[in-house]
Amino acid sequence: MHKYYVSVFFILVVIYVLYSKEIYTEKTNFGYIKLSSNALKGENLWLQNNCNACHQLYGLGGYMGPDLTNVSSHPQKSAEYLKVMMISGVKSMPKFNFSSDEQEYILQFLKEVDRTGYYPNRNAQIKYTGWVQYQKKENNEK
Ligand code: HEC
Repeated sequence: MHKYYVSVFFILVVIYVLYSKEIYTEKTNFGYIKLSSNALKGENLWLQNNCNACHQLYGLGGYMGPDLTNVSSHPQKSAEYLKVMMISGVKSMPKFNFSSDEQEYILQFLKEVDRTGYYPNRNAQIKYTGWVQYQKKENNEK
């Protein structure tokens, strides 16, 4: 009887080791995301001006304003509209005194964020294994 427990213990240890190895050495390709230098300037403006206090990217941030993850590819929201939103101040969206270059940098940042995926990921599918298959952006150049 005692031997039986010992072998069960060792089997569990082996399963644990194999499972851990599988999980920690899995090389899932999440893609390599690199912002252009203008988008990096835009990200700095985004951070310095605390846009995230009211806006979200991928649902994370403050909730006074809308999520901006995919705002740059929104069919009804042109670049002009987005720039005007930034510099005119609408309702609780403050007015920012960005130069036209700075507006371009922020737009570039939002554009490159947009390329990374969808939020909310409405077409995600739950597979029979329980894993979630996200809908990915096909056209990364958009
Ligand atoms: C104090 C809160 C607040 C801060 C800070 C803020 N926003 Fe906003 N923003 C809002 C609100 C609220 C709206 C929605 C205004 C409306 O449509 O009535 C908005 C709207 C927008 C829109 C238009 C979104 C759309 O879908 O129409 C853009 C673009 C935007 N903000 C960019 C920015 C950027 C860039 C910053 C930082 C430089 C920023 N916001 C900082 C509150 C904020």
